[in-house]
Amino acid sequence: MALVPFDDRDGWIWWNGEFRPWRDSKLHVLSHGLHYASAVFEGERCYAGEIFKLRAHTERLINSGRILGFEIPYTADEIDAACNATIAKNGLTDAYIRPIAWRGAEEMGVAAKSTKVHVAIAVWEWGAYFGVEQRMKGVHLAMAKWRRPHPETAPTASKAAGLYMIGTLSKHAAMDEGADDAMMLDWKGDVAEATGANAFFVFGGEVHTPTPTCFLDGITRRTVMDLARKRQMKVVERVIAADEMAKASEVFLAGTAAEVTPVRRIGDNTYTPGQITETLMKDYDALVNRR
Ligand SMILES: Cc1ncc(COP(=O)(O)O)c(C=O)c1O
Repeated sequence: MALVPFDDRDGWIWWNGEFRPWRDSKLHVLSHGLHYASAVFEGERCYAGEIFKLRAHTERLINSGRILGFEIPYTADEIDAACNATIAKNGLTDAYIRPIAWRGAEEMGVAAKSTKVHVAIAVWEWGAYFGVEQRMKGVHLAMAKWRRPHPETAPTASKAAGLYMIGTLSKHAAMDEGADDAMMLDWKGDVAEATGANAFFVFGGEVHTPTPTCFLDGITRRTVMDLARKRQMKVVERVIAADEMAKASEVFLAGTAAEVTPVRRIGDNTYTPGQITETLMKDYDALVNRR
């Protein structure tokens, strides 16, 4: 099925407080956000008409902007309402939501203090994923050559557009090798995350996940940790050395887009998705209320 380009669709996009027709939602080429990556965004999912953890995503969006030195000119209540209104305006119930904030075209150069901060919210249909059985086959991750930077090298706690540069490079390289995605290490060589989701490892029946010192402390990650604790599983957040990955009995990813996705291979290490992954996958599905 051919992908319909994102600028060749119908619908409505919320743009600085009003709805614009999807096809007319265009940006000037001299926008600062495009040239200097002064942009932050979110990725959310709406299940049966309800955006999962909407307020947490909105707060992270506002905070991501602050980390990049700009203030989004809307309150959390206004952004929440705009996300819900965009879903309704487009007549959707199961959808992906993409709010984005960026510096405009008032100034062009590294310094950009007088630029206006713009906000847009787009939504598109994202209905039934694969069933649990099909997802249990797991994904294949290649090892990325790029590493997550030190938090003093880049604003790693922000969901900033610029940080996805190494994600896209790593994912493209993984796809060229026939893998689905890439596993990234951090600047020290310890395990970090996949290009768009956090990683979990099962060691001796315990659920371990890397401490998010230089990558996003994902909203799904925190949700899955809570779900595991509710099942009386031991959850351990710690530094995980790259060579420990060979010893894991199960591996899975967690993120808004990926939800809970089992992993069958990382580099040369292979895994059989098992009971713990399946339990958390089902618990997450039940929580977001889709099945
Ligand atoms: C690089 C990266 N890490 C982790 C995550 C998971 O974050 P969340 O669960 O908040 O969607 C995402 C998805 O937004 C991501 O893009």
